Amino acid sequence: MHEPYRIKVVESLPRVSRKDRRRALSDAGFNTFHLPADRVEIDLVSDSGTGAMSSAQWAAMADAREDFSGQACHERFVSVARDVFGFDHIQPVHQGRAAESLLFRLLVKPGDVVLSNTFFETTRSNVEASGGEARDLPDSEPPWCGNIDLDRLERTLRRNRRVRLVVLTVTSNIAGGQPVAIDNLRRTRELVDEHGVLLALDASRFAGNAGLVKQLTGSKKSVKRLCREIFEPAHLAFLSCKKDALANVGGVIAFDDGALLEPLVHEVIRQESYPSAGGLAARDLAAMAVGIEEAVDDRVVRSHVEKVRLLADRLDASGVPVGTPVGAHGVVIQPPDDRPHAPHSLAAEIYLEGGVRAAVFGDSVRLAVPRRVYTRDHLERVAAVVGRAFRTPHLKLRCVHSPAEFFNFFARFEAESGGGDAT
Ligand code: F0G
Repeated sequence: MHEPYRIKVVESLPRVSRKDRRRALSDAGFNTFHLPADRVEIDLVSDSGTGAMSSAQWAAMADAREDFSGQACHERFVSVARDVFGFDHIQPVHQGRAAESLLFRLLVKPGDVVLSNTFFETTRSNVEASGGEARDLPDSEPPWCGNIDLDRLERTLRRNRRVRLVVLTVTSNIAGGQPVAIDNLRRTRELVDEHGVLLALDASRFAGNAGLVKQLTGSKKSVKRLCREIFEPAHLAFLSCKKDALANVGGVIAFDDGALLEPLVHEVIRQESYPSAGGLAARDLAAMAVGIEEAVDDRVVRSHVEKVRLLADRLDASGVPVGTPVGAHGVVIQPPDDRPHAPHSLAAEIYLEGGVRAAVFGDSVRLAVPRRVYTRDHLERVAAVVGRAFRTPHLKLRCVHSPAEFFNFFARFEAESGGGDAT
């Protein structure tokens, strides 16, 4: 399907010589997260906060009035979020991890266990910061590789009285956005209800999940309708608006239970701002409201899912084995060998080869596709660059800084060999 938009404003891609790329990489400790973004030609390090906003979003931002409380943008945001997510209470926050921190502070007590299909890194860390234990129970049976393993969930709920919360990450980020089946969500709700446990969704990529449900089941329902079916089984949801919701910043906590409202707004006023602002400018709320509306447009979702699939197909054609099934927001690849720090070496080599920035997540290299930013031509180039880097591995890295947590984000390396001039 062709892109359901045309281009009004363009931004030049930087041109960076191979010599400068070598230097930038070595200065960045061979960790692509540390690269200056203006040294990157095509940036697939994250699909978070990197999407292109629509002219309608920019117009809404320009039109927004900045007030301390009672903002018109807040009212609009709440009404759109209620309509799409289906919960009564809508609390904006400044991004996804703020939602996690605020919520877990209220819901997770030291010694509690929180189960998930697979936690995103900050979500896991926020559970642990509240004294909880975060456990993954993934079910990697294709095509629903984002599902939680229902047998293990049932067993754990039966045996462990400290389980307080189950978090389903939709889509599961870990392999580029693997879908969670609606049946899996419903069955999880039945199981948690039997044990008096809450079901929360980390729904940062809710629309992609609906897009994959549509594709895999052949459903004729709209993405918007399917999104409601995804949210319905949950007691509450939290999400980053920097992904499927097409905003550059922002997040939401959505829930029905009135008893959570007062403690939550007190926590928000302590940590973020007046609750109707949620730590954001009114103009951000305006962009988020329009973004959420656009996020459930069937054509927007389909075009993105198809673009990710196109990248996977082209990578495959250039001899790079991609993780399958292909997810909704990115493609993951395993490095071609088992050198120490092989994923970091591959991400570094991809940058060196063609100025393309990928990231290491878990033990894979992820190419995340920002929404509405790159054309098919760009993705064809990415596939050619990754293909060349993949076929000629040459870097050997030695870790010179290993942080206590968040290794992939903060580790630094030196080249033992293959680093070229700048090492
Ligand atoms: N949950 C999931 C599933 C995520 O992928 C992320 C962020 C967050 C929560 C945190 O949201 O960034 O708004 O605070 N993922 C980014 C990524 C960073 O590149 O996958 P945030």
